[in-house]
Amino acid sequence: MQLNVGLLGLGTVGSQVAERLLQKRDSLARRTGVVLNLRRVLVRDAERPRSIPSELITDAPDEVLNDPEIQVLVELMGGEEPARTYIERGLRAGKHVVTANKVVMAKHGPELLELAGEMDVDIYFEAAVGGGIPLISTFKVDLIANDIERIAAVINGTTNYMLGRMGADGLDYAAALLEAQAAGFAEEDPTADVAGFDAVYKLSILASIAFGARVHPDQVFREGIEGIDPLDFRYAKELGYEIKLLAYAARPNGKIEARVHPALVPVSHPLAQVEGAFNAVYIEGDLVGPVLLRGQGAGGRPTASAVVGDLLDLVFTIRKKAANRVLMTFDPDPPMLPMADVVTKAYYRLRAEDRTGVLAQVGRVFGEEDVSIASMIQKDSIEEGTAELVFTTHPARDAALARARERIAELEPIRRVGAFFRVI
Ligand code: NAP
Ligand code: HSE
Repeated sequence: MQLNVGLLGLGTVGSQVAERLLQKRDSLARRTGVVLNLRRVLVRDAERPRSIPSELITDAPDEVLNDPEIQVLVELMGGEEPARTYIERGLRAGKHVVTANKVVMAKHGPELLELAGEMDVDIYFEAAVGGGIPLISTFKVDLIANDIERIAAVINGTTNYMLGRMGADGLDYAAALLEAQAAGFAEEDPTADVAGFDAVYKLSILASIAFGARVHPDQVFREGIEGIDPLDFRYAKELGYEIKLLAYAARPNGKIEARVHPALVPVSHPLAQVEGAFNAVYIEGDLVGPVLLRGQGAGGRPTASAVVGDLLDLVFTIRKKAANRVLMTFDPDPPMLPMADVVTKAYYRLRAEDRTGVLAQVGRVFGEEDVSIASMIQKDSIEEGTAELVFTTHPARDAALARARERIAELEPIRRVGAFFRVI
């Protein structure tokens, strides 16, 4: 038996997938009983030299999408359009789809899954979240007996790499970003990484699957890592924390909480030890308890592992003649917990005039906003006559933490609120 594959995109991930299919064609066929035949590859620039035979390459989408011999489309172009349209065209033409596209799956996944069901084909997207880490299959299959209580994750390799280099090696933001781009795991437009959009897309996919509810990216609270001051890495460390871009989802009292922002993570927490472009997803299920999945969340080869894994999964499904294996339902309009009502701890760094009564004024604001102080340290400041004050708090409503921040910034002896982070 032979399955003809049309590949859309031959970049960081696509070239690794093509290489695997071409170089391991015989051994994959022996293992599965099916020849995965790479038939056509769509790129933007067909003139550029490539590492695969040139007769496979085309820059004409119809040569792949309209080819009736192609049974599976592997979409690795990235971006929302035209990728979404090509996926839809493939499904409508009765082709199975494998994609690593988190933007498309986060924004349009439920409709595409529904369409795949109608057309009696499958759509696989393991590589869309966490690169090579088996996450989608874990939720869909292995943890299906559980009510998922929370997900806390480091799911953007670029920012994790950058924060690590800035914190441990003192690199500035721009140099750390350049390194991440050179390593091939940053998105084409790195704003997607540093402003938190990439993590939002991934979290919205994970939360949708974990809670069986449609969590649209627009419903996920988002703050990026831009503007983090090197000073905060030092103070965080002194207090026993690392700074991570945290993706968090939970369902307290039936409402879904979903947020992405920089956070202080205790050094003892498994997420604090995630280094470089590695990702980790910490899950709590009501039956299984805590589960930690960790691995390479970005890069061509780890992501190709998930893409080719999906292809092989599809092959086994077809061989078993099991129609439409992906059965997922989503509550289309679940109740969401507004960020203002989220309860979290926080870290504030203030620059204040170094004189009597300042702490009393700051303490009064926290008290009036019902925010309880957990710790306070005072540091010398480079600015003559001022001190850096670092506070951590006990859990409080996010709205109260934000109000306290605004009111403290307006106090007469406060020069500025230099940093505010949530703490897990
Ligand atoms: P990439 O290196 O930028 O490659 C994109 C490929 O798609 C290129 O070959 C490009 O053609 C082709 N392409 C883009 N737009 C096209 C269009 N309109 N028409 C025809 N061809 C087009 O991207 P990537 O890093 O491999 O990422 C691919 C997907 O995997 C994305 O959805 C990404 O989010 C996801 N992903 C990536 C990683 C990672 O570490 N890189 C990890 C997990 C998931 P040219 O070669 O001619 O430019
Ligand atoms: N830009 C993404 C990251 C690639 O840095 O994690 C994987 O989706």
